[in-house]
Amino acid sequence: MRKYNALINNELIDNGQWLEIMNPTTLEIAGKVSALSAKDIDNAFKYARLSQEAWEAKHLLDRINILKKFKDLIVENKNEIAQIMTEEIAKSLKDSLNEVERTIEIIDYTFEEAKRIDPHSQTGEGMGAKNKIGVFSRVAKGVILAISPFNYPFNLAFAKIIPALVMGNTVVFKPATAGSLVGAFISKLVIKANLPKGIFNIVTGRGREIGDIITANKEIDMISFTGSVNIGNQIRKNGSTTDLVLELGGKDPALVLDDLNLEKYAEEIISGAFSYSGQRCTAIKRVLTTNQIADKLLPILKQKIEKLTVGSPFDNCDITPVIDEKSANYILGLIDNAKQNGAKIITGYKSEKNLIWPTLIDNVSIKMRVAWEEPFGPVLPIIRLNSIDEMIKISNESEFGLQASIFCQDISTAINTAKKIKTGTININSKSQRGPDSFPFLGIKNSGEGVQGIRESLLSMTRYRGIVLNY
Ligand code: NAP
Ligand code: G3H
Repeated sequence: MRKYNALINNELIDNGQWLEIMNPTTLEIAGKVSALSAKDIDNAFKYARLSQEAWEAKHLLDRINILKKFKDLIVENKNEIAQIMTEEIAKSLKDSLNEVERTIEIIDYTFEEAKRIDPHSQTGEGMGAKNKIGVFSRVAKGVILAISPFNYPFNLAFAKIIPALVMGNTVVFKPATAGSLVGAFISKLVIKANLPKGIFNIVTGRGREIGDIITANKEIDMISFTGSVNIGNQIRKNGSTTDLVLELGGKDPALVLDDLNLEKYAEEIISGAFSYSGQRCTAIKRVLTTNQIADKLLPILKQKIEKLTVGSPFDNCDITPVIDEKSANYILGLIDNAKQNGAKIITGYKSEKNLIWPTLIDNVSIKMRVAWEEPFGPVLPIIRLNSIDEMIKISNESEFGLQASIFCQDISTAINTAKKIKTGTININSKSQRGPDSFPFLGIKNSGEGVQGIRESLLSMTRYRGIVLNY
């Protein structure tokens, strides 16, 4: 049985309280992590604050060199990290390893990009200022609270932690409960890498028990959160700070505007909808198209979806159990609701506990919940509409605004449509996706606040400091 401790000021915490972590594939206990108390959490922030000035005072290249030792340990342990992820979140072993490798690339790129966050100078002459030079540098915000979701427990943690640390902030990191084994496994690597005490603290425990205590701590200068809209909104209300980056849910539409390359469109749509069993914020969560196109697209989608393998993440199946039985019931409830209201199940709609077969639903109407809610599971609704304008309208009526896809060979139509879609990013002729990770990544409306991405995180985790010379 795996048993990993939280980390405060480079000390492994054993307060005698443990939180059991479920293996979604076996539905047995995969391991335990520390369940921290309010006092432990207070300590984590106290040490993060105490260590911050000295950490920031180090030269950028010294900070990078120190962090490189830690990155080398991630590289050494990448197979073990992937194995733990597969055990606790049922992501296929292959995808878990990809996630760790992708994160290593992000870390390397962050080290390089940080070197380009240079100060700039201005004279103010255009405003009539005389004999002045202002030098504007980016400096650390202070103590950053990083909260990650279950679906990318490694990647979305380090996409926050590394830019924060590189720029001289210190970090308190709260992993999702499903994802805490990976989160707390890191504790030992922090100690082994000999990172300066207190700069990187890992606090574990159930969000509903300790979340409010964590986010209300007075030492926090910024919260970088990825997760659901509900919790994001709770943090907005409860957070002790106004500095927030929130990456929340999505209901990404794929608009299919022509039938000129349906094989390719279908491949992208399936990969977009069903990778990691649909548990991606950027998953394609509805297809909007016309009757005519739907009639041709549907058989192609059906045939390809039925070839997806369903089963254990350790066998690298395409579709693996969703995170828990509560999520499975929610997903199945959305399908039931569509079916009861006249939608047609084309394939799937079979389940064993929390393993749900990939489900394609046709004739979904805008009165059905699955047209608007985020299932976070292997479900693809097709909504038949009359025109591109109607597709744009239904896309934009969503509470979410993360990403969208447009499939269309005529680039002018594609771009003109993209300009009318209200989401952070619009992908033409590809599935919705966060990468490449050097791109800015953002959601509008209920999908978030602020921007992630490598450069954008380096910027959001710093503020300007101007020093003005008068001569
Ligand atoms: P979640 O339930 O909102 O949890 C996210 C994190 O918040 C977890 O670490 C959770 O800890 C913690 N938490 C729970 N209650 C809290 C509270 N009161 N205060 C502070 N933190 C609290 O989301 P999830 O189920 O892990 O992830 C799925 C959701 O995330 C989906 O909606 C998905 O679209 C979204 N997501 C968005 C992006 C993006 O970049 N836009 C990326 C990935 C996922 P516990 O696990 O201990 O409760
Ligand atoms: O789940 C949300 C992630 O930010 C999506 O990342 O598009 O690379 O799968 P991805």
